[in-house]
Amino acid sequence: MFENLKPVAIDPILGLMVAFKADTRSEKIDLGVGVYQDDHGRTPVMAAVKEAESRLMVLETTKSYQGMAGDPEYNQRMMELLFGEGHSILNSGRVKSIQAPGGSGALRVGAEVVRKARPESKLWIGVPTWPNHIPLLGSAGFEINQYPYYDMASRQINVQAMMDTLRTVPAGDMVLLHGCCHNPTGADLTHDQWDEIADIALERGFIPFIDTAYQGLGDGLHEDAYGMRMMAERLPEVVIASSCSKNFGLYRERTGSITFIAETPERADVVVSQAMSTARSIYSMPPAHGALLVSMVLGDPQLRSQWQAELEEVRLRVKAMRGLLCDSLQDNDAGMDFSHINRQKGMFSFLGITTPQLERLRNEFGIYIVSSTRINLAGVNSNNIEYLKQSLLTVLR
Ligand SMILES: Cc1ncc(COP(=O)(O)O)c(C=O)c1O
Repeated sequence: MFENLKPVAIDPILGLMVAFKADTRSEKIDLGVGVYQDDHGRTPVMAAVKEAESRLMVLETTKSYQGMAGDPEYNQRMMELLFGEGHSILNSGRVKSIQAPGGSGALRVGAEVVRKARPESKLWIGVPTWPNHIPLLGSAGFEINQYPYYDMASRQINVQAMMDTLRTVPAGDMVLLHGCCHNPTGADLTHDQWDEIADIALERGFIPFIDTAYQGLGDGLHEDAYGMRMMAERLPEVVIASSCSKNFGLYRERTGSITFIAETPERADVVVSQAMSTARSIYSMPPAHGALLVSMVLGDPQLRSQWQAELEEVRLRVKAMRGLLCDSLQDNDAGMDFSHINRQKGMFSFLGITTPQLERLRNEFGIYIVSSTRINLAGVNSNNIEYLKQSLLTVLR
């Protein structure tokens, strides 16, 4: 039987990680992998999470099954984090959330539920997007359409083309939007642009599917939630996939949630029952550990403020590295403008250099960047910035 299978090409980012690991040069730099790194190049466990973990060790009394929706306290606290305590949607009965295995699991469950609700719905995805969106959501059976998002030449969102395309989306289709810290471009929607998309969604009758994997890494926990909070107020239906991988540093614990806003409380109850049945048919139940930690951190005032302070440190470090890299490249011989890096948000931006320049960086200098030229700004630190600067200035000559 297995003789029928062909090997699948390794994910380019994972392939790059393997090559980076095998590189013996001590000055090598990894700007490819999509995880946060501190100024020492480490991806630490946040102290608030570590403290919650040690409390959980004592408090946890069972490893028994938790159910398809995961931990109810986690679900409630995650909704409060997404929408902000006191948001009108929270007491409306129209919003329901279940725990999911990471943002990826949330995206998939959300897609499966939408497919059950309306099999003819198409999914509109901005170009470019996180490459894994296509297999994750496409495998649910969606026909995928595209709308233009980022203009490589001007290094900003192609607002006109995006809005023009959204004005053609039929009623009942889904439109995927990045909540904040757009991956891979770092180019985020302004509040006015979010408002305009909500206007178009109301006019056309499409449903936003918001992927929020970086809340707190752009402008702050509250600021980064503008789009989904506004849409939750104005639109009858919204789907939100959220992840705690980055803002709680819980990557391998697979902690996320899928949240549905329906037109009435009765419909929200039906949607969430479908989400649980979907979970049951794929993985049965989400892993508990990460969600119990998040729930404990969010529910304990001291741990919560410690976590918020740590997250703010993460956000400010990445922002500082944006400024540092941008300044370092200002006087390059190619006369290239890198100021977009300073304007963009979150961990990623496109460097926008050529493929030969990218290859030189890797071959001659041990600097690893994915072929789209997306860089992870968290890979830059005070120890490697000078080497990075000199290497980049050399290939730009
Ligand atoms: C845009 C976006 N959405 C979702 C995810 C999924 O995150 P995870 O499944 O690791 O929680 C990521 C991870 O990199 C992402 O960048």
